[in-house]
Formats: sequence, structure tokens, C-alpha cells
Amino acid sequence: MDILPIVIDGTDTASRRTAASALAAELGRSSQPSQSPQTDDLRWVVAADDAPDSLQARQAIQAGPIDEMLAAVHRIELVEVGEGRSYPVVVGPGARRCLPRVLPPKAKRVAVVTQAGVGVDLSDTLTDHDVRVFTIEDGERAKRFDVVADLASAFAQWGMTRNDVVVAIGGGVVTDLGGFVASVYHRGIPVVHVATTLLGQIDAAIGGKCGVNLPEGKNLLGSFWQPAAVLCDTDTLHTLPGREYRSGLGELAKYHFLGGGELDALPLVDRVAACVRIKADVVASDEREGGRRAILNYGHTLAHALESAGTYEIRHGEAVATGLVYAAEVAHRLGRIDSIEVAEHRRVVEHYGQSTTLPAGIGNDEIIELFGRDKKALDGITFVLDGPDGVESVRIDDRDLLTDALEAMRP
Ligand SMILES: NC(=O)c1ccc[n+]([C@@H]2O[C@H](COP(=O)([O-])OP(=O)(O)OC[C@H]3O[C@@H](n4cnc5c(N)ncnc54)[C@H](O)[C@@H]3O)[C@@H](O)[C@H]2O)c1
Ligand SMILES: [Zn+2]
Repeated sequence: MDILPIVIDGTDTASRRTAASALAAELGRSSQPSQSPQTDDLRWVVAADDAPDSLQARQAIQAGPIDEMLAAVHRIELVEVGEGRSYPVVVGPGARRCLPRVLPPKAKRVAVVTQAGVGVDLSDTLTDHDVRVFTIEDGERAKRFDVVADLASAFAQWGMTRNDVVVAIGGGVVTDLGGFVASVYHRGIPVVHVATTLLGQIDAAIGGKCGVNLPEGKNLLGSFWQPAAVLCDTDTLHTLPGREYRSGLGELAKYHFLGGGELDALPLVDRVAACVRIKADVVASDEREGGRRAILNYGHTLAHALESAGTYEIRHGEAVATGLVYAAEVAHRLGRIDSIEVAEHRRVVEHYGQSTTLPAGIGNDEIIELFGRDKKALDGITFVLDGPDGVESVRIDDRDLLTDALEAMRP
């Protein structure tokens, strides 16, 4: 008997049990308690003898009122530091249908920012709003300042006010750009992210970092702008091109080393929710990247160098996965981790079908030069490395060591 990926999370045990039995009764199935591997919370799963994302279950959820649906998916509250405000991240099949519920009550105009290939149209759910869809071009090159300016001009011509809302529907490119334009238009208007790529759901749409690229480097222009809500609808992943899905798996590999453990043992919905929880915890403890948040950049120093050297041909998650192995090789050379840990990094990265070797055609000097340009290069080159106290930021000036670790990754 398979377990449906319907996990009932909620504020208290009694309401979880009630929601689980109601859903199980509707499906003619049973519900049972299970211990969450991430949080040790007692939650309920609904068992069925069907495929993991059973059509029957989805139909039952989608036919029900939105409140019931919210009870049947993961709802994670992401708490903002200082302000004490929080916003929901809803993870599960059909989560996009929560959109009308999470829009700010005063919003009249909804500016949807998306891309042609995303194919998620939510205008029929927004019958009470004036909706315009702004389609940006595809790919990393859409994250440009002139695209931000064009969108802002279009918003102004339309008469958007600070009560209105931007809804970014897409992967990290769309949520980074949509979040950024929302953060600067009228000194900041609300944004809701509907994340439709695996990478977006587990990372890019969570945590409030947004921005665009400059010709001089990636994400050099940006801001912190927390969304009003994030909807991670796992159904949208069905249309995602294979390479994009694999790129998401590369980023997912990172969470293994940030306390995620054996994430690959979980059903997809739980896995996405587990990554969201880890990121939410880290962000809540350090919203502005003063310290702990930097661990989310594990694997990213090499990744950003590979992405800019390869003029963005390599996918972000693929670059991160290779960057994890490099970070392990560097940490090993500093005596922070042993060879067994390095082998574990290689195993996990390979498990997700990612490359553990550097792409051809990029020299060591070029890569090290690009390390220095990374925006996290505050003073010397800052790496995020594993060690006896877990993953943390470490400054490195030893060029020979960095070169030696790069050599260890040549095929
Ligand atoms: N802000 C952050 O904290 C953060 C974190 C990680 C990454 N990022 C950024 O995210 C970006 C990468 O995001 P990405 O990997 O999601 O790539 P992406 O946004 O380029 O999306 C990949 C492709 O998939 C298409 N697509 C999206 N959803 C689809 C769907 N459901 N079905 C079919 N096609 C779909 C897109 O149109 C695009 O062509 C990078 O710019 C990176 O810098 C930001
Ligand atoms: Zn990343």
C-alpha cells in the first residue's frame, strides 16, 4: 500500500487528526499518524492503494473548499526577523488555487509577471480583480535592469498603486525579477510568488531575496523583499523540462548538508516542504545574511563562477551540485573534513545525477578570478564550507589551495 503524499500539518494535533479523518473519509481510505522526520511533529498521512499523486485524491482536494485544501497540504509559516510578521508558504498539489485567498485584501489590480513557457494561467481564479499579464522573455538574460524599468513603466501607465499586487508565476528568473520590481515600484508593493520550478519551490521563491544581473555579474542589483505568500504547487512540475527538473535536484542536494538528511527517501511533496522548512528556519534566524543565512550559499561560490564563465549555459542547480563537491575538496584541504565526508558529497551529488567534475574549457585562473568578483567576496574570498561545527563561512587567501582543489575536479 502506497502512502499518498497528503500530509496534514496544522497548528495543533487535534485539528490535524480531524482534517486527516475528513479527507480519508472522503476518499474512502484510512488515515494514520506518523512522525515527521524533519520536525518530529506528529502528523497524519492518508493511506491509499494508488499512485503517489493519485488523481482521485487531487480531485477530492480540488473540489473541496479552499480552507479544507489548505489543511490538506503543507502550510509553513515563514517568520520575518525583527518585524515579527509572517507569511504562508503553501506546498502541495493544487496549491496555486489558493491565490485569491493570499492576495492583499486592498488589491484591485493584479500584475501577473510570467513567461510564455510556464503555462500556468490563473486569471480565471481572479474574477474579483483587474488582471494584466506581463510576459517577459525566457532565460537568465531576462533578469536585466531594463526589463525592470519596462515593467515599472507599464505598471505606472496602468495606474498601479501601492495597494496593488504583483504575482510572479514561474521559476527563479520570474520570482527574482517580479520580486525586485515589486520591491522598488512605489518604494515597494506586495508580491506573491507562484513557484513553478523545483528550484523555485525549494529555494528561489523562499526567503525574500530578489534581484537582477548586471553585465559585470549575476545578481549584482537586488533587494530583500518578503512576499505576501508563496504557493508551491507540485502539480506544475509535471510540465517542467527534464533538464530544469534535474537542475532543481542539484539545488536539493545542497539541503542534504544543511540538516536535510536523506531527503530522497521522501515523496516529492514532503521533500519540497522539508527544503522550504530548512530555508525558512535559516532565513528566520538571519533575514539579512549577516551570518547564518550565508550557509544557504553552500556550493554557490564555484557555481556563480561557472555560471558567469559559461555565459549561463550551465543551469544554476547543476552548477551548485558541482560546487558542493568543490567546497568539500577545499574544506578537506583545510583539514575541516575528512576524505569520507568528501566521498559523501560526491555520492550525494552523483545520486542526483549531477556532475562531480568541472566543465571543460574553463581554466583555473579564470575561475579564481571570478571567485573574487562574487558579491560575497567581502574581503578576500569567502567560501561556505563544511567543518566540525557544520557549514559556515570561511575566508580563504590561499590561491594554491584553491587551485589544487580545482585540479582534483578535472576529469
Ligand atoms: N532569490 C533567491 O534566493 C534565489 C535562489 C536560487 C536561485 N535564484 C535564481 O533563480 C534563477 C533560476 O531559476 P530556475 O532554475 O527556476 O530557472 P528559470 O526561472 O529560468 O526557469 C527554467 C525554465 O523553465 C520554464 N518553466 C518554469 N516553470 C515551468 C513549468 N511549470 N512548466 C514548464 N516550463 C516551466 C521557464 O520558462 C524557463 O524556461 C536564477 O536566476 C537564480 O539566480 C534565486
Ligand atoms: Zn542556489
